Amino acid sequence: MTSRHLLDLNSLNIDEWMMLIKTADEIKNHPYRYIDACHGKVLATLFYEPSTRTQMSFQTAMLRLGGRIIGFDNPATSSVSKGESLKDTVRVVSGYSDIIAIRHPKAGSAKAASFYSKVPVINAGDGGHLHPTQTLTDLVTLYEEKGQLTDMRIGMCGDLMNGRTVHSLIKALCRFKGNSFVLISTPQLRIPSYIKDILNAVGAKYCEVNTLEEAMSDIDVLYMTRIQRERFSSDEEYERQKGVYVLDKQKMKLAKSDLKILHPLPRVDEITIDVDDDPRAVYFEQTEYGMYARMALIMNMLDENIHKVDGAPVSTHSETCTNSNCITQTEKYLPKIFKESRDILVCKYCEERILL
Ligand code: NCD
Repeated sequence: MTSRHLLDLNSLNIDEWMMLIKTADEIKNHPYRYIDACHGKVLATLFYEPSTRTQMSFQTAMLRLGGRIIGFDNPATSSVSKGESLKDTVRVVSGYSDIIAIRHPKAGSAKAASFYSKVPVINAGDGGHLHPTQTLTDLVTLYEEKGQLTDMRIGMCGDLMNGRTVHSLIKALCRFKGNSFVLISTPQLRIPSYIKDILNAVGAKYCEVNTLEEAMSDIDVLYMTRIQRERFSSDEEYERQKGVYVLDKQKMKLAKSDLKILHPLPRVDEITIDVDDDPRAVYFEQTEYGMYARMALIMNMLDENIHKVDGAPVSTHSETCTNSNCITQTEKYLPKIFKESRDILVCKYCEERILL
C-alpha cells in the first residue's frame, strides 16, 4: 500500500481499495488459506473510547491470521489514568507490537499517534472525525450485498454532524462515479461544512432533507446511524435530538425491493427490531464483513512493515486550532499544522476551519 499508516481511507487510491475489498472476499471464501498469514506478529489495540465491534473484530481478525494481540479497552486501567501523554503511550507500545489500532475521543488523535509510532497506525475512530476501517467494512458490504459501488442513490440518516462513519463513507463513495446522496437529518445535525466542500469539489449530487419519508422511495442504500449522545455538550441538547428517526416496517413499505439497509451499530432506537428479519436489512452481515475487511487490511499493512518513527513535522503556524474536540486541545506538545486556503486555516488533525 502507498501509505504506511491508515488514518483516512482517502489516502489510498481506488485500486488499493479494490485490492482490499477483493482480498476480504477471498478470505471470506477461503479462510483456511490465511490461518498463518500473520504468524509471529502482534497487534496492539489502544482503545480510549468504548467499542464492541471495532475492537473485537480487529482482535479476531489478527487471531484468525495466526497473530497475537495486546492492548487496553479502558484507559482507566492503563498509565493514561496517571496522566501519560498519547505520544509516550504510543512510543512504548510501538516497541511491543507490529501494528497499532487506536480509537480515541479526539479528532486527529490517530494522525498525532502516527508521528511517534515505530509501526503502522490504523485509525479505529478519532472522535467525530473519521472511521476508515468502518468505511472499508461498508464498502465490502456494498460490494458483497449490492454487487456495485457506483451509480447508487445513498440515503444517510441520523447524526450526520457527529457520525464519523458517515463522514468517512461519504468521502469514499463520492470517489466512485454516479453516486448521489440524500442526507437525512434535523437542521441541527447536518454534515460538517468540510464534507460539503468535498462533495462540491468532486461535483457529487446531494440534497438535505428532514424526514425519512421524503427519501425512502428512491434510494438504493440506506445508511442508518444513532444520535451520538457522547458528542453532545449537554443532556438537554441530546434529549432534543433523540428518537427523531425511527425506521420501522411501515416505512420499509415505501422502499425499493432491492434497497440495502446498513448501520455501523450500535443501534439505539433508530431501527425497530421487526426490520431485522427483512431481507433488505444487512447490518448484522455487515459486522462480519468488517472482520474480513480488517484481516485484509492488517495482512497488507504488515507486509510492508518497516520499523521506523516518522517523527512529527514542524509547526506551520503559531495559531492553535479552536475546535474543542481536536486532539491539539489536550496534547499540547503537538506541532500546529494547518493548510492555508485564502483567509481560512484548515487544521490538519481535525480538518476543521479556523478563521484568521
Ligand atoms: C460506530 C463508531 O464507533 O463510530 N460504531 C462502530 O465502530 N461500529 C458508530 C457509533 O458508535 O454510532
